[in-house]
This record gives sequence, C-alpha cells and structure tokens, in this order.
Amino acid sequence: MPKIFITRRIPEAGIQKLQAKGYEVVISPEDRVLRKEEVLEALQGQNYDAVLCLLTDKIDGDILDAAGKQCKIFANLAVGFDNVDLKAAEERRIAITNTPGVLTNTVAEHTFALMLAIAHRVCEADRFTRGGHYEGWAPMLLLGNDLSGKTIGIVGLGRIGSRVAYHAVKGFDAKVIYYDVARNEEFEKEYGAIYKANVEDVLHEADFVSIHVPLLDSTRHLMNAERFRMMKPTAYLVNTSRGPIVDEAALVKALKSGVIRGAALDVFENEPALASGLVECENVILTPHIASATEETRSAMAELAADNIIAALEGQAPPNLVKKK
Ligand code: GLV
Repeated sequence: MPKIFITRRIPEAGIQKLQAKGYEVVISPEDRVLRKEEVLEALQGQNYDAVLCLLTDKIDGDILDAAGKQCKIFANLAVGFDNVDLKAAEERRIAITNTPGVLTNTVAEHTFALMLAIAHRVCEADRFTRGGHYEGWAPMLLLGNDLSGKTIGIVGLGRIGSRVAYHAVKGFDAKVIYYDVARNEEFEKEYGAIYKANVEDVLHEADFVSIHVPLLDSTRHLMNAERFRMMKPTAYLVNTSRGPIVDEAALVKALKSGVIRGAALDVFENEPALASGLVECENVILTPHIASATEETRSAMAELAADNIIAALEGQAPPNLVKKK
C-alpha cells in the first residue's frame, strides 16, 4: 500500500482523497513548520511514495534524498514553488507539483480587500474607533482615496494578475496598465488594458501598484528604494505574491518619509519576521500570508495536491507538474 507523508495538518478533503485510494497517510503530529532536521528524521528510512509539502518547507537535495528512491513526487500545497530546488528534484527524477487555478479568485479577492482597506483607511479607522477616539461625524475625519476610476498598475499579468485586472475594470471602472515579460494582446482588447514595456512605466502612472510575479532571481527586490521613488507620492503598493520581491527595509523608509502614500502586504521578506519599523507605520496594512486562506480554496488546494499525488502513483503525468525554466 503506498505511503504518503504530509508535513503539517491540511484540510480533510485532501487527506480523504488519498485515503479513499487506500493509501496510508501519515501527518506530522506537530501543527507547525518543521525544522529541516525534523523533516529529515520524519522521512529517513520510512519509504514514503509521496510527500505533500508546504511553501514553508524548504525542499532541497538533502530532503529529497531522505525521502528515498521509491518517492515519486513532492506535491507542494501552493501555487508558488520557490521553496523547492527544482534542479535537485529533476536530478533525482522526483516530480514536483503545485496548485494553480483553484486559488486565483480568492487571492484576487484578498488583493482587493487590501487595496480597498488601505485606500479607505479601514484598519486605521477601526483602531481609531476601538480606541475610543470617535467623537462624532466630522467632515475631515480619516479621509482616504477612491479606487473607482483610478489607474491600477499590474506587475505580472498571469492568472492572478489578470483576475485582479478583470475586477478592476469590471467592478471599479478603473484603467488597467500592466507589465509582464509576455504581452497579452487578447486581454488588452477584451479589457482595455494597456501594456507598458517596462516596470518603470507602470510605476510612473499607477495609483495602485499590485505585484503578481513569482519569486525568481530576476524579481528579488524588484521593488526597491529607486523604484519606490518612481511611484507617485499619492500611490499605494499592494503585494500578495512573495515577500522578497519587495525590499522591506526600503519600503519602511518610503512609507515613513512619504515617498509613497501607503502599502498593503500579505507577504514578507523574511516570514514570519517583519522589517524593523514596519508595524509602527500607520499607512501600512499587514496580513499574515492568508490571501488564499478561505475554507473553500484551501480545501480545493488540498484536493488538487492529492490529485497530483494520485496521478504520479498511478503512473500518469501529474496535472500540475512544474519544471525548471
Ligand atoms: C501562496 O502563497 C501560494 O503560493 O499558494
């Protein structure tokens, strides 16, 4: 009977799918991120046929070796897979998969939750009201900015970036400008989106800049001190992709000195740590990497990771195989 190791508790739907196939499913008893030594210890000598891992697990050659020669697949419960050494996996002929598609809508919704919350100063207003400072309606109290009709700059027009652009156009009558390594003229025609040949041109014009690129060597610190200075002083930055794409220390300086008006972040450069000074900024909203965290979506992600494992163990190509570019 195939044996599967899951590095942390995940939604039942995924576990049940694996169990329904008759697989033995072992879940780490610790509901926390395992240290590398703990993952090694959990895998060594256990002959697992598959591992379901998380974006918080760093999957390198040592971990893949510890899983053993019979292990066919590491299924990552995330659309991002920058936590996995793809070259090491390829060398060992272990398939790596992710969970794209099922979380697109939810992450796009969270992006809007952040955009609206920062522009309408929702969290600041909540702190103000709870703090007992509300003394009645006032014409100048906590003035924010509209999203409707504004220019939304999308950096990375993949699945999630496109969905954010769609909502911006359809729901908020916004103008969408975007940069991506691949131009999408069909999308431009359908939604009136405008392609910019480089990130800088997006930054110069956008009222909201929303980041949707994967973490690669070429995107690390894509948003740095110089690029913040290219943004309008009235603009907001939203990041629901990966933390290291933003130079967080430089962002703190930009927020404190008014280089940009505000930011909303779901991801951080050194999670779960936050850059010094970030929490003191009133003009930033921070959520703990929960953009895909709805009951519906996390269950769908767990099921998709299970589908990938089932395919690999049944000798078929897993539907969401990722490869080193
Ligand atoms: C979450 O960050 C994911 O990559 O799914």
